[in-house]
Amino acid sequence: MQVRELEWQFYTKPKNITMDNSMKLYWELVFKRQTNNDLLRELHNPIRQYEKEMIDGAILDIGCGQSPFLLDFLSTDREIIAIDNEQIQLDFLKKRVESEKSATLKNWSYLNLNFPKDDLPDSTYSLIIFSNLLHFFTLKECVEIGKIIANKSTKGTLIYIGVHSVKFYANNPSNSNNNGYFKHYFTIRDLDKVFPSHLFEKIYYADIDKSDSKSERDLTEEWLDKDIEADGITDPNQRDLIKKNYLKNKRQSDVIAVYRKK
Ligand SMILES: C[S@@+](CC[C@H](N)C(=O)[O-])C[C@H]1O[C@@H](n2cnc3c(N)ncnc32)[C@H](O)[C@@H]1O
Repeated sequence: MQVRELEWQFYTKPKNITMDNSMKLYWELVFKRQTNNDLLRELHNPIRQYEKEMIDGAILDIGCGQSPFLLDFLSTDREIIAIDNEQIQLDFLKKRVESEKSATLKNWSYLNLNFPKDDLPDSTYSLIIFSNLLHFFTLKECVEIGKIIANKSTKGTLIYIGVHSVKFYANNPSNSNNNGYFKHYFTIRDLDKVFPSHLFEKIYYADIDKSDSKSERDLTEEWLDKDIEADGITDPNQRDLIKKNYLKNKRQSDVIAVYRKK
């Protein structure tokens, strides 16, 4: 499952509505509708192929949300560090982990940190996950983030990145507000600038372009209904139009990559 970002707001939403309330509604719905098993069955996780080669060390997920990736490591003995700057997301993830009998609980920590402003904990990392986070930063900021990660990683650390690609349906460079919400749409060459070849070996990359599954569409529709309602839009025609416009061209177009620190 890819967590949905709420792009419709920058062209349809009244200005007095905050993004945060809208996101909160969305995250609550994800927690309510998607079981751990649903998240895991919909997860495309290339790290699984390299799991046996992972060095000793902690797993760090930055901007973890209700991280399907960490749920995939539910019963690991490795130290798990989940970082998000929204407490509600950390609480949801913790509840998900604690609901599983097989979870190794003592090795998990949930840190409310604002990356990259706040420092990352000092540890040896086997894996650092950036799933659906870096497109909230400009490419220049991402290059600086790459330097931080180069310092925090060690020989063999794997870095997973999932970001919206230039093919993402909301990417429209002729729109002056194109990078108002998502600050950058990526190509694999952009990621190679962030994780340069003298420091990182690229071991995996995929260009994903897919239509939403039924469960993703149903989730989005329920969220739109709730969000439009919260915005006080009662006219059924206006509501239908907003939903139709939002869902019209909606696909997921992402670049996925895994780098290994040299
Ligand atoms: C689009 S969601 C992705 C969640 C999860 N990684 C996934 O792919 O399902 C982005 C998450 O990053 C968090 N986030 C955004 N900016 C952040 C920052 N500067 N530092 C830490 N977390 C951040 C948000 O609260 C949100 O939970």
